[in-house]
Amino acid sequence: MESRTALSSRLDSPRLADSFGRVVNYLRVSVTDRCNLRCMYCRPVQDFKAIEHSDILSYEEYLRIIKLAVPLGLSKIRLTGGEPLARRGFHRFLDEVMKAAPGMDVRLTTNGTLLAGQAKTLAGLGLKAVNISLDSLDPETFHRITGADLFHQARSSIDECLEAGIRVKVNAVALKGLNDHELPAFLELARTHPLDMRFIEFMPIGGDTLWDDTLYWPASDILERAGQLAELSPVVYGDEGHGPARMWQIAGGQGRLGVISGLSGHYCLTCNRLRLTCDGRLRPCLYSDTEYRLRPLLRSEKSSDGKVLEVLRRALARKPMGHKLLAERGRRGVCAKSMTSIGG
Ligand code: 5AD
Ligand code: SF4
Repeated sequence: MESRTALSSRLDSPRLADSFGRVVNYLRVSVTDRCNLRCMYCRPVQDFKAIEHSDILSYEEYLRIIKLAVPLGLSKIRLTGGEPLARRGFHRFLDEVMKAAPGMDVRLTTNGTLLAGQAKTLAGLGLKAVNISLDSLDPETFHRITGADLFHQARSSIDECLEAGIRVKVNAVALKGLNDHELPAFLELARTHPLDMRFIEFMPIGGDTLWDDTLYWPASDILERAGQLAELSPVVYGDEGHGPARMWQIAGGQGRLGVISGLSGHYCLTCNRLRLTCDGRLRPCLYSDTEYRLRPLLRSEKSSDGKVLEVLRRALARKPMGHKLLAERGRRGVCAKSMTSIGG
């Protein structure tokens, strides 16, 4: 148990560190829970109840939090959703984030389907990297997984971003029986394009999750099969770390292959991230519904920067080790909230 003095000195520290000594320098900001897709692993229910507009943070409120968090040692901000490009005024917001945090590594996670014609503008605003979700290279399977007939829009967003000089990571949720037969095609995409192709293990997130053993395609299987299809050599990282993905260079190829083993691997020890949900809550761990509400504080007359900072530090001090929560999970999802409102 940490002593009271140790805890209070950490709460006063100029940097954001948690009770396990993990330094948090990465903020993921969900700007909306709305999305034009219905990915089966993210928001499977038809009658998905979106959060009331008045309960979603305004861009000004996000900027206030970001400006307060930046001096605490943030080096990376990811704007995510739902689908961030579905929120009106997103470009202006991105511009303001860039101005509020000069030199910050600002990235975007998108399903790419609304991106057409915007890559150059986004690059002009300073966006250097995007994560694009693409779970299939076949239009019909894409439709089956996402509920929308928008494969071509998603696929062409990759080329558009690469042409605009934006680095691209493609994320596919690994779904046995649905997209596992496409591994050769995904490998070919990574071989012929300068991008990172990453498979993310399907995680049982959200009370309505459709997760079950039959759909679970573990990272170890993906790597074994990929190793039979291509010559892979592991990418070695320096001390700066590399987030939850493990990457492999493809011999003779332009891009790389990677896996994110949220379920079978434990990357919690090196977790450096904090999430801000679109309804203004700090969520220290993806797998835990424990959240720290900022919205009432931001909107209260008694609001002060000091109080907001205090909540930021408290949320961090209580950041848990997520894999323990995963291990304790019963048959239901690991948390009640859907991925679309957490922000991935
Ligand atoms: N399991 C794994 N990844 C998920 N994502 C959303 N829901 C899940 C889930 N249950 C990922 C998708 C998407 C990103 C926003 O979050 O890869 O690209
Ligand atoms: Fe939308 Fe992304 Fe969720 Fe799919 S995974 S429903 S694209 S927020």
